[in-house]
Amino acid sequence: MRNLLLGVVIGVVVVLLGAYLFLTRGMPVATKGGPPPLERFLASTALHHAMKGEVDTPAPTAPDEANLLAGAKVYRAQCEVCHGLPHQPPSAIASGMFPRPPQLLMPGKGVTDDPVGETHWKVKNGIRLSGMPGFADALSDAEMWQVSLLLLKADQLRSSVRRRLVNGAKTCDCLESEAPAPRVVASGCQAVLPAGSVAEGLRSRGLRVSTLLQVRLSSCRRIQNTTTAK
Ligand code: HEC
Repeated sequence: MRNLLLGVVIGVVVVLLGAYLFLTRGMPVATKGGPPPLERFLASTALHHAMKGEVDTPAPTAPDEANLLAGAKVYRAQCEVCHGLPHQPPSAIASGMFPRPPQLLMPGKGVTDDPVGETHWKVKNGIRLSGMPGFADALSDAEMWQVSLLLLKADQLRSSVRRRLVNGAKTCDCLESEAPAPRVVASGCQAVLPAGSVAEGLRSRGLRVSTLLQVRLSSCRRIQNTTTAK
C-alpha cells in the first residue's frame, strides 16, 4: 500500500515537472514556427466536438444575389484584413499571425466544401486561441449567414458579387486571373495616369501601358485619357 502511494506521488510529481519544463522551456509562444506536437490534433478534435449538432443547420436564406452581395459587404468590413481578397497577397496582419488565417477567397483555399452551418458556427463563436474572432455581438444572425453563404459559394460567384469584393481595394483590384483577352490599343494612344492610381502603381512596377489596358477596367477606376479600339 505504501509503495502504491509512493508510486502515485512520484507519478504526479513527474507529470507536474514535465508540464513545468514544457511551459518554461518548450512551449512556443511566438507566432513564428509550426505548432508543437499534438496541438493541431487537440485543437481540431475539441473544435469538432464543440460544433457537433450545429454543423448540419441549414441556412435560413438562399444564396441568391442579394444575400451574396450583402455577404460580400460584411466580408469587406470584417474579414478582409485576415482572410484576404481574390488574387491579392495576404495582409501584413494575416502574415504575422499564428495560426495563419486561411485566405478564404483564393482558389482551393476556401471553405466551399464545408457545410454552411459549420462556417456559421465559426463566424458566430470564433475559434479560441487562434485569433479568429466570434462575431455574435458585432453582426446580426442574418449577416453571419450571408457571409457564410458567400464563403460557401466563393468558387462560383457572379461577377456582380466578385466586383463587390474587389471594388475600391487599396492594392490593385484589377488583376483578376479571368481578365478578358487583351484589347487592341489604338495607335498613338497616351495614357495619363493619375499620381498614386492603381494603374500608375502597376506601371511603376514595369508594366507597359498597353498591358495595363488588358486588365479588367470594369473593376478598376477608369484610366483617364486613354482610348481603346473596340
Ligand atoms: C483577426 C483575424 C481574423 C478575422 C478578422 C477573421 N478571421 Fe476567420 N480565422 C482567423 C484565423 C487565424 C483562423 C484560423 C483558425 C484555425 O486555424 O484554427 C480563422 C478561421 C476561419 C474559418 C475556418 C477556416 C477553415 O479552414 O476551417 C472561417 C470559416 C472563418 N475564419 C471565417 C471568417 C469570417 C467570415 C470572418 C469575418 C466575418 C472572419 N473569419 C474574420 C482569423 C480571422
